[in-house]
Amino acid sequence: MTDIRFLGQACFELSDGNARVVIDPFLKPNNPVAPVSADELDATHVLVTHGHADHLADAVAVAAKNDAPTVAIVELANWLGEQGIKNTIDPSLGGTVEFDWGWARMVQAFHTNTTPDGTAVGQCAGFVVNLGGKTIYHLGDTCLFGDMKLIAERTPPDVALIPIGGHYTMDAEDAAVAAGLIGAPTVIPMHYNSFPVIAADAEAFKSDVESKTSSAVVILEPGETHTV
Ligand code: NI
Ligand code: MN
Repeated sequence: MTDIRFLGQACFELSDGNARVVIDPFLKPNNPVAPVSADELDATHVLVTHGHADHLADAVAVAAKNDAPTVAIVELANWLGEQGIKNTIDPSLGGTVEFDWGWARMVQAFHTNTTPDGTAVGQCAGFVVNLGGKTIYHLGDTCLFGDMKLIAERTPPDVALIPIGGHYTMDAEDAAVAAGLIGAPTVIPMHYNSFPVIAADAEAFKSDVESKTSSAVVILEPGETHTV
């Protein structure tokens, strides 16, 4: 059993047993709609898809609590180390990092990748995470691309976390196509409604996906948990 707690924007806490894996920490007060601040989390591991502030504003603070190993693409891992994260892990696309609770594979995403201070930090990424015997595909920030299907075939995800907000990522209509390519039993929308330019109708996305694919869409409000 794996708990998937949505913390706003693209931030999720995946937990099972003693493992608490936080992806893309962007928390109170940096993200006004986040339900918690960094000091309310107790992460054992941190994963960061790319360098934009809405994915890592709280990475240093979240990682500091337990000196949590923090996974990011090599250039971003180096930058996070310079910001004070003690224990960085630096795969690149295609790399799989093993942990006592499972593994995380860094996969392709199409997006830009700079840090808040303007440093270019390589490619953007998504993650396929295996935790508690479940496989979860966090797409990161990305447009629609066909090899999502290949990524999902390689290790079929139980849950796909898909951006739907448009403008900086694919929109809800493209996200419904992505859901069809990935074929996960459960889809959870993310990266929408945090600010006006990425407004999206999650209920319309749910209807679209559930009428066209075999996936079920679970809409989580920030703070809510879905267990698989
Ligand atoms: Ni971004
Ligand atoms: Mn973003």
